[in-house]
Amino acid sequence: MNVVTLITSSNRHGFTKQIVDRLSMGIKDNGGTNEILFMDDYDIKYCTGCRGCEKGNGCVLDDDFKEIIEKIRDADYFIFTAPIFWNDLAGHSKMFLDRLNSIGHNLDLSMNDKLCCMIITHISRNINPFVIENTHRCLVSGTFKVNKILDIGNLMENHKFEEFELEDFEDIGYELEEYEIIPHKLDLESSML
Ligand SMILES: Cc1cc2nc3c(=O)[nH]c(=O)nc-3n(C[C@H](O)[C@H](O)[C@H](O)COP(=O)(O)O)c2cc1C
Repeated sequence: MNVVTLITSSNRHGFTKQIVDRLSMGIKDNGGTNEILFMDDYDIKYCTGCRGCEKGNGCVLDDDFKEIIEKIRDADYFIFTAPIFWNDLAGHSKMFLDRLNSIGHNLDLSMNDKLCCMIITHISRNINPFVIENTHRCLVSGTFKVNKILDIGNLMENHKFEEFELEDFEDIGYELEEYEIIPHKLDLESSML
């Protein structure tokens, strides 16, 4: 299985990267590959809300979003990662999700229910479950099916993952394709949990 991971954190050696590296080891042990993309390496503009994509012609913005999307489409599996800033998804992470509107509205751009894992990282023990569900919902709107959610907290600056935790990540990487699809819990009428 060929995986593409988008790291939206700007920390190239941060906690997200440590988690993803161990997932990669598991993916590799299972005969797969994991191409890691850092969002910082790409020019991605924010969605202007023109809704041109809803007319079925894709996104009108000319930037690197298309390149990232093509890489994800060519892969068997997608891993989306995002840090929490101010109790919500970081702005730049959300920027990528906003642009998925163009995928959801264009059959020929569809990810065709490609399996996807989301990884959310934060310092606090817990975050508002709405943030997780809303991120999940955005990915589903972008025609992905989420089958693994890693909500990893307690990441204080001096945090060190225990070896057993890193081994767990490796196991998860090995089994990524095996997990059941998770239904999102957001009520689409009210946008409430
Ligand atoms: C501007 C800013 C705001 C943050 N706000 C929160 C927050 O509200 N809650 C929280 O748990 N962590 C918060 N954090 C911590 C980040 O979520 C955490 O450092 C990050 O997820 C670690 O992942 P990384 O090492 O891969 O970047 C914040 C960090 C920054 C830089």
